[in-house]
Amino acid sequence: MKIVFLGPPGAGKGTQAVRVCTHMGVPQISTGVILRRAMQEGTETGAKAKAFVDAGQLVPDELVIAIVAERLQESDCANGCILDGFPRTVAQAEALEKFASLDAVVNIAVADEELVARLSGRRVCPSCGGTYHIALDDTADCKACGTALVQRDDDKPETVLNRLSVYHGQTKPLIDFYGARGLLKTIDGSQTPDACFADIIRALEADG
Ligand code: AP5
Ligand code: MG
Repeated sequence: MKIVFLGPPGAGKGTQAVRVCTHMGVPQISTGVILRRAMQEGTETGAKAKAFVDAGQLVPDELVIAIVAERLQESDCANGCILDGFPRTVAQAEALEKFASLDAVVNIAVADEELVARLSGRRVCPSCGGTYHIALDDTADCKACGTALVQRDDDKPETVLNRLSVYHGQTKPLIDFYGARGLLKTIDGSQTPDACFADIIRALEADG
């Protein structure tokens, strides 16, 4: 199955994608993770993306479309994948239709006030990408690899507000875009991570 995880920043796309990918045995393709890795490694893509990511703006469509089109050709995507955070604009969604056919779009819905709390309390592992929240699991080190956790640069308060406004202006229209195609499954993302996971699996399995 090829599935898109749609939702505002901090909705839990990454948290749920990791779990659902393990459950389904397919890879997680997160454009945010790919871009941050490219920035860390100082590649040409990373250099092009940096100013946008740091400001909480979207990276230009052409750049992310090319990244995803190339990634989907790798052999581990043969049985499907979860696209986490792509597409995020109508132009990206239209481009995706030309090179992939989707089975479902999971929309993880969470109110803005809750998102600010989630993003400001998020801690990530710079080594393996593990994601934590101080209110759920207040550990200083990654439980998987022992590396000291850090805060993501774009989780600073002023950048978080930009990201939310970019979501409302540019990404939210995809709810109607995929609703019109009969692909949308909206999940209440304000529940516990376990309850969200159960709802997502139920919604995907209801497809048969
Ligand atoms: P990206 O990395 O995709 O960031 P995002 O969409 O802003 O989403 P996040 O990763 O911040 O949140 P999430 O939904 O994954 O939540 P998480 O599971 O971590 O993109 C970053 C940047 O890259 C963009 O701003 C843009 O510049 C660029 N970019 C990426 N894709 C692009 C594209 N397609 N086009 C253009 N530019 C692109 O959870 C958040 C926190 O909440 C964690 O602490 C977690 O532990 C906690 N949490 C999770 N679930 C729950 C729950 N149920 N209850 C309580 N806490 C929870
Ligand atoms: Mg994420």
